[in-house]
Amino acid sequence: MSGIMWVFAVIILSVCETWSLETVVRNSTFDLGSDVNLTCSNKPWDHIFYVIWNINLKYKDCRIAQANDGTSENSCYDGKSLQKTSIAQSYLHIPNFSNDDVGVYKCETAHTEGADDHIIYVTVTVLPGSVPPNTSAWLEWKGNKMVAVCKAQLEKPAANISWSYTGTSSYLETWLGSDGLITVESRMELPDNMDTKHLNCTITHHYWERVITLVPEPIEDLRFKLTCIAVIIGVILAGFLFLSRKKLTC
Ligand SMILES: *[C@@H]1O[C@H](CO)[C@@H](O)[C@H](O)[C@H]1NC(C)=O
Ligand SMILES: *[C@@H]1O[C@H](CO)[C@@H](O)[C@H](O)[C@H]1NC(C)=O
Ligand SMILES: *[C@@H]1O[C@H](CO)[C@@H](O)[C@H](O)[C@H]1NC(C)=O
Ligand SMILES: *[C@@H]1O[C@H](CO)[C@@H](O)[C@H](O)[C@H]1NC(C)=O
Ligand SMILES: *[C@@H]1O[C@H](CO)[C@@H](O)[C@H](O)[C@H]1NC(C)=O
Ligand SMILES: *[C@@H]1O[C@H](CO)[C@@H](O)[C@H](O)[C@H]1NC(C)=O
Repeated sequence: MSGIMWVFAVIILSVCETWSLETVVRNSTFDLGSDVNLTCSNKPWDHIFYVIWNINLKYKDCRIAQANDGTSENSCYDGKSLQKTSIAQSYLHIPNFSNDDVGVYKCETAHTEGADDHIIYVTVTVLPGSVPPNTSAWLEWKGNKMVAVCKAQLEKPAANISWSYTGTSSYLETWLGSDGLITVESRMELPDNMDTKHLNCTITHHYWERVITLVPEPIEDLRFKLTCIAVIIGVILAGFLFLSRKKLTC
């Protein structure tokens, strides 16, 4: 009798455990071209019975699964694979992340301590053709001082800008655009005669795995251009004048 009670209790317990299984939903954004690792359980592989990734992409649905009896399945055929870390945790590896990898990644895993259920909405940070996206750096003149400017216009949270040169203080301005993007602009007045060849700014953002380094280039100075044009016109006029004088004397 007590044996049956015991079995009953175990069944009730396991049912409760299944019910209490909480699905973890999260968003993840990755850079184009990056190598992405998605994890859905921190349990070591020898505690895991199976891992199933059901993947819904824009152009296809596919499935990657592995069980501890050695069976596995991969219907994606696009380089995605299950791999293991040095401490034998399983993760889904997406090489060279592209727009085609954007989608919903559902992971179910069962292990000795229960189960994990994750839904990851995977999107891309960088739009094609704009690498690095909405970031720029330049040098401009303010009076007779040269100013280096580094700017990033990105989604929340605000990007972080720092300079390779810290001799003078930089001034940071941040504002929210109507498009929901946050613009961060860092301006730094440079000391006279500074060699700007080795000056650069680094931009980091919550959504990026990598750091973007920009070297500010001088923007074309309009005043300089106008002076150039004036000089050229002057030279041409002088030439005409000289020629017409010569003609007269002839
Ligand atoms: C995921 O992103 C969507 C759309 O940007 C947002 O509505 C949702 O709250 C986010 N979910 C999480 C868990 O961050
Ligand atoms: C993903 O895992 C691989 C090992 O397969 C490792 O070399 C790489 O650094 C990892 N990438 C990230 C972004 O963690
Ligand atoms: C990554 O994918 C892009 C576009 O599909 C391709 O041009 C590039 O050569 C790939 N890079 C690597 C390292 O495979
Ligand atoms: C870059 O800025 C434009 C508008 O200025 C915006 O439409 C676009 O989404 C931005 N791109 C990124 C990757 O933030
Ligand atoms: C920006 O980067 C600096 C240097 O890496 C760091 O100390 C600081 O905490 C970062 N700020 C934010 C808001 O991430
Ligand atoms: C940025 O500046 C630092 C310090 O001068 C230098 O070590 C680094 O190589 C520079 N990086 C680039 C990409 O120019």
